[in-house]
Amino acid sequence: MKVLFAFRISILQKNLLCCKKTKIWIYFTPKDDKNPISLQSVNKMSNQTWIEISIADLPENIKDEIIYLANELGSTGCWEEENLIKCYFKKESWSEKQKEQLLNFIQNLYGENAKVKISVKEIVDKDWNEIWEQTIEPIEVGEKLVIKPTWKKYHKTEKIVIQIDPKMAFGTGHHETTRLMLRAIEKYLYPKCKVLDVGTGSGILSIAAIKLGADVAIGVDNDPWACENANENAEVNNVKDKFKVILGTIDDVNETNFDFVLANINKNAIVKMIPQFYEKLKDHGFLITSGYLDIDQGTIEEHLWLNNFEVIDVLKENEWIAIVSRK
Ligand SMILES: C[S@@+](CC[C@H](N)C(=O)[O-])C[C@H]1O[C@@H](n2cnc3c(N)ncnc32)[C@H](O)[C@@H]1O
Repeated sequence: MKVLFAFRISILQKNLLCCKKTKIWIYFTPKDDKNPISLQSVNKMSNQTWIEISIADLPENIKDEIIYLANELGSTGCWEEENLIKCYFKKESWSEKQKEQLLNFIQNLYGENAKVKISVKEIVDKDWNEIWEQTIEPIEVGEKLVIKPTWKKYHKTEKIVIQIDPKMAFGTGHHETTRLMLRAIEKYLYPKCKVLDVGTGSGILSIAAIKLGADVAIGVDNDPWACENANENAEVNNVKDKFKVILGTIDDVNETNFDFVLANINKNAIVKMIPQFYEKLKDHGFLITSGYLDIDQGTIEEHLWLNNFEVIDVLKENEWIAIVSRK
């Protein structure tokens, strides 16, 4: 089950980088798959009345299109669970005409025999931010790591906890590529190493590396918001003394001789930077990259090979992959 809200525009824009499927929405893992958060429990009365549209029995392959259309028709956000999508409209921007358009759209996509049910319910105002915040749960990644927002508690003491509040930067642990990078880091990183994190975003990978024993991490990002967020997160996670954040690109990093270069960006950016990654690494250093799909594995591996890297591992989650290689 997933929850989607359009008002988190800033985060949403960052996630466009990687979200192939969702295009305009960001997905967050909600509180409890079996018992979704009660809307009533977070009800903060105000003047807005909402229309909740539930669309049931939807085939998986047309959900993205429905969410897209709902957005086009003025929906403020959508909540997705199993084969059900709930879309929320301000009462004043909803009419029977939109319901008709949704139905027509589904029938056109899915045929006359579509057994799709649409139900409409009027509900009182909600504090959407609060609903959204309550849906974010700590995420366990790999054997040891947990990513959690600062406002959530986490009790398993044997885990290494990284605190990241979803803000303007990519890297909350909610995307496959971040989790793949973290799993690879956990698997290969060794104590006292030196890490370069290209496209640091929230700083999550550097923070994880330091908490796993790295001596120093340099994070570079060409987005000022990301750099600001990475610095904030360094502070929250008490790793400021070991984590240096640079606003810019890999060209702005003077240091070299890294044991690890991490880069979760996208296929083209990674391919273009492979020679620079090579320059930055010491002999036998590790390059861990992600931000691309399994269909791009051949292309990435070819470029790695052409630049004298040896591919040693490929990690996969859904259609996303991370490749670990060595100089
Ligand atoms: C997909 S996010 C990854 C964030 C985080 N490292 C993670 O793994 O979740 C990619 C980040 O790379 C940054 N970026 C994109 N192109 C870049 C470039 N050429 N140089 C530096 N940063 C770049 C973006 O601003 C963004 O913050």
